[in-house]
Amino acid sequence: MNRTLSVSKTYFEDVKRVQNEIWQDIDVRDKIVIDVGVGESTKKLIELGARVVVVENDPQRIKELNVPIIICDFLNFPFQTRIADIVVFYFTLHEINPNFHASALSIASKIAPQVIIVEPFPHGCPAYEEFAWIWKNAMQSIGRFEEYKPLNYWETILKKVGFKIISRKIVNWKVNIPSDVLEDIVRVTIEDWKKKGVSEIWIDTLQKFLEKKPKMKWSDIAVIVGLFL
Ligand SMILES: C[S@@+](CC[C@H](N)C(=O)[O-])C[C@H]1O[C@@H](n2cnc3c(N)ncnc32)[C@H](O)[C@@H]1O
Repeated sequence: MNRTLSVSKTYFEDVKRVQNEIWQDIDVRDKIVIDVGVGESTKKLIELGARVVVVENDPQRIKELNVPIIICDFLNFPFQTRIADIVVFYFTLHEINPNFHASALSIASKIAPQVIIVEPFPHGCPAYEEFAWIWKNAMQSIGRFEEYKPLNYWETILKKVGFKIISRKIVNWKVNIPSDVLEDIVRVTIEDWKKKGVSEIWIDTLQKFLEKKPKMKWSDIAVIVGLFL
């Protein structure tokens, strides 16, 4: 078999394993789940049998999904009573200004008793740390946030807001991202950054990063479940 194909196959098997490990201990079947930030998490929650409601602040991200959608900044969520069973932040909190992380979790505690946080936990792979640093600066150049934090940061805020931690784990990637997959990701990222007006400096830095043919694994992923009674 062609070596590139075989490497990609292993990578895509790892994608499935990582997805399964993230969701395997979480029971969302028939639960009303507010998914803050539309995307892969929304599809997965539907597949797992949740009754999903999306909250999304970027109307351009809304795709054809057969679920109710509330278009607003979660920090201005209009309801303050228990209307759901679970609030999911799947790769979303790092896009919110860190000064408002506690507010976001406090709002979540008012609308559902359970919260699930899934966030990148970047450490251990120098190439990923460089990639994450470029992303952070690119987003800063347009006044946005891309701030990855360690697992205990999220635990501390959850506890401060009044949640009890009922489970926490780290899911690791085992396989490097194949070079053709990384090239595609960088190409799509650069197209998106150009539309958003990201500074040329960071587009150029990302291109130079790719030219070094980095051996890169995705970051570890922190999965934390909190309960607020
Ligand atoms: C990295 S994406 C992840 C999306 C999705 N959970 C997934 O699994 O693909 C983060 C999403 O959160 C949305 N988002 C960021 N901050 C938000 C906020 N304050 N309120 C609502 N949505 C927000 C972004 O527009 C984006 O669609």
